[in-house]
Amino acid sequence: MRVLVAGASGQLAHADRRTWLGHELFLPEESVLDLSKREAILSVVNEVRPQVLINCAAYTQVDRCESEGDLAHLINATAVGWLAEACEAQGAMLIQISTDYVFDGTGTRPYREDDPTNPVSVYGRTKLAGEQQAARCSRHLIARTSWLYDAWGKNFLNTMVNAANQGRALRVVADQRGAPTTCRALARQLKVAAEEGWQGLVHATCQGETTWHGFAQAIFEAKGMAVDLSPCTTADYPTPATRPAYSVLDGSRRTALGTDLMPHWHEALLDVLRDPC
Ligand SMILES: NC(=O)c1ccc[n+]([C@@H]2O[C@H](COP(=O)([O-])OP(=O)(O)OC[C@H]3O[C@@H](n4cnc5c(N)ncnc54)[C@H](OP(=O)(O)O)[C@@H]3O)[C@@H](O)[C@H]2O)c1
Repeated sequence: MRVLVAGASGQLAHADRRTWLGHELFLPEESVLDLSKREAILSVVNEVRPQVLINCAAYTQVDRCESEGDLAHLINATAVGWLAEACEAQGAMLIQISTDYVFDGTGTRPYREDDPTNPVSVYGRTKLAGEQQAARCSRHLIARTSWLYDAWGKNFLNTMVNAANQGRALRVVADQRGAPTTCRALARQLKVAAEEGWQGLVHATCQGETTWHGFAQAIFEAKGMAVDLSPCTTADYPTPATRPAYSVLDGSRRTALGTDLMPHWHEALLDVLRDPC
């Protein structure tokens, strides 16, 4: 398959690199496939002529989105419309990555794909607008994921381990529930989804659920690190953007669509720690 990946320097794109071995994979640098420029998108897609385009690029700094709404909207929504336009012209399939932050977090059971959305942050609103833009391509898959991390990249796992290595006492929020998801598991799932021709909207997170505090505990336990870790509440650490208190996503549509490869989040964590590269 000819696969074009946008957002080459990000953590999910790095996992794509490992996952699509043996395929024709194109990962242009951000300066070449710059999502803020419609002409750059049309020109690269026209040149590469991909069968599948995976959009791993996004304005992902959730707090900064609150003060940089225009830029966040350009990258997370408007540019996705340009990608959809370019894919449509090539008959390519567009895989758009979306987020659990499209929900407000007041739910009490895992969110299904058809549950009403109600983002409570600029980031969530722009990503939801991005879903609508992606759906303009006749062949599209919108995969909502959550709490992404892996051995590489800027993420919760690496932040926790670095902070603990500095001997710091850590307070981590224990009142937000979600599903930590590894980039490698998501990348593998998206590859199978592309091969099996999945279409529409699907939830793609690791299975099970925990809190950020529970996730931190599991990391330190698995690494055998003795860390001064204690729980705190979201209210103890106010941030510019509001996060959903509960954003577990139901994965049953995934199972109905085809091969479900998403592991339990704890098993996925152990896999990352066992095989970090
Ligand atoms: N991280 C999470 O917890 C999480 C949760 C749910 C959903 N998601 C979604 O999953 C996808 C992948 O996220 P990730 O964690 O891999 O994010 P990431 O590591 O922040 O990667 C995003 C990439 O997009 C690039 N980018 C930003 N503006 C761009 C532009 N104008 N043109 C081209 N590239 C641009 C960024 O480059 P710079 O670094 O140079 O800005 C970065 O390399 C995103 O759609 C994100 O919204 C992430």
